[in-house]
Amino acid sequence: MDARNTLAEAQPFADEFATAVIDGLGARAKHIPCHFLYDARGSELFEKITQLEEYYPTRTEIALLEKYGPRISQLVGSDCAVIEFGSGSSRKTHILIESLQDIAAYVPIDISDKALSEAAEALRKKFSDLTVIPVHADFNEAIELPDAVSGALKLGFFPGSTIGNFSHADATRFLADAGELLGQDSAFLVGVDLKKNTDTLLAAYNDAEGVTAEFNLNLLERINRQLDGDLNLEKFKHEAVYNETEGRIEIYIVSLEDQRLSVLGRPFTLTRGERIHTENSHKYSIEEFGAMARRAGWQSDEVWIDDRALFSLHFLSRN
Ligand code: AVJ
Repeated sequence: MDARNTLAEAQPFADEFATAVIDGLGARAKHIPCHFLYDARGSELFEKITQLEEYYPTRTEIALLEKYGPRISQLVGSDCAVIEFGSGSSRKTHILIESLQDIAAYVPIDISDKALSEAAEALRKKFSDLTVIPVHADFNEAIELPDAVSGALKLGFFPGSTIGNFSHADATRFLADAGELLGQDSAFLVGVDLKKNTDTLLAAYNDAEGVTAEFNLNLLERINRQLDGDLNLEKFKHEAVYNETEGRIEIYIVSLEDQRLSVLGRPFTLTRGERIHTENSHKYSIEEFGAMARRAGWQSDEVWIDDRALFSLHFLSRN
C-alpha cells in the first residue's frame, strides 16, 4: 500500500509535518522547523527541561514576574485585557494574573486545542471572576481578537523567550504585527533570554542528564511513528553549539555514520557528521532587543533583569 494514503487516512493533520520533513531532509543543508519538536512527548520533555539545574530561563523569568508584578500592575492599571501568544504552560500566566487588578478578560492564543482548553479550565477554576476567551490559532498568522475585548486596553504577554526561536527579521515582523493587533495605548510584556558567557549557554542546552538530547531526538521517533520512517536513534546524537556571529544557540541532530533512511517510502542519505538543524534560540543584549522593539513601533519603557543578568523582561508600550 502507498504510505501516503495510509498516512492521510490515519493522520490528516500529519500532512504539514510530512511536507516539512521531506523538504527538510531533501535540502542541501538539512533542517526541520522547530515547532515540530513540540508533540505531546516533546512538550512533556520540554517541561522537564524547564526544571533542570542548567536551564536557568524558566525559574529566572518566574522570579522576575513575581518581583515586578506590582510594577506591571501599576503600569497597566485596572481593566486591561491580557492577550497571551502561545499560552503553553500557564504557570507564568497565573503569576501575572495574580498581580493585576480587575482584568477585563484573559485571551490565550494557542495552536494546540488541548493545551488551550486545559489552561482555560485551570484559570477559571483558580480565578472564578476571570473571563477567559481562548482563541485557537497560530500566532504567526493573522489573528482576530474577540469582540468582547474590543473596548479594553490590551496587555500582550509573550514569555519564555519563545521570541528567540524567530530570526531577527521574523521577530521584528512578529512584534510589529502584535502591535497592530493589540492596538493604540497597548503594552507588551516580552521575556527575552540575554547574551551571556558561552559556557552558561552551552550547559543550558547540553544538560548532564541528557533531557535536551532526548527532546531533540524525539523528533526522529516522531518521524518513525507518524511518517513511516526507519530511523535508528542509535545512529544519531544531539548537538547544541553557540553561534557567536548570529548570537544564537543552534541545535542539531548529527548523523554518527554514513547512512540511508526511508521516510514515507522516500530514500534519503546522510554522511557521517552531517547535521539536521532543528532549532535556533536567539539571545539578545538589553539594547539589541530594545532597538528591535522600537523598529517594530514599540517604546521600550522598562526592562527588568535578575541580578546575575541571565534573563530580561521587557515592558513595551505604544501610543
Ligand atoms: C522554548 C524556544 C524558549 O530556546 O530555550 C530549550 C527551547 N530547546 N532547550 C529555548 C529549547 C532546547 C526554548 N524555547
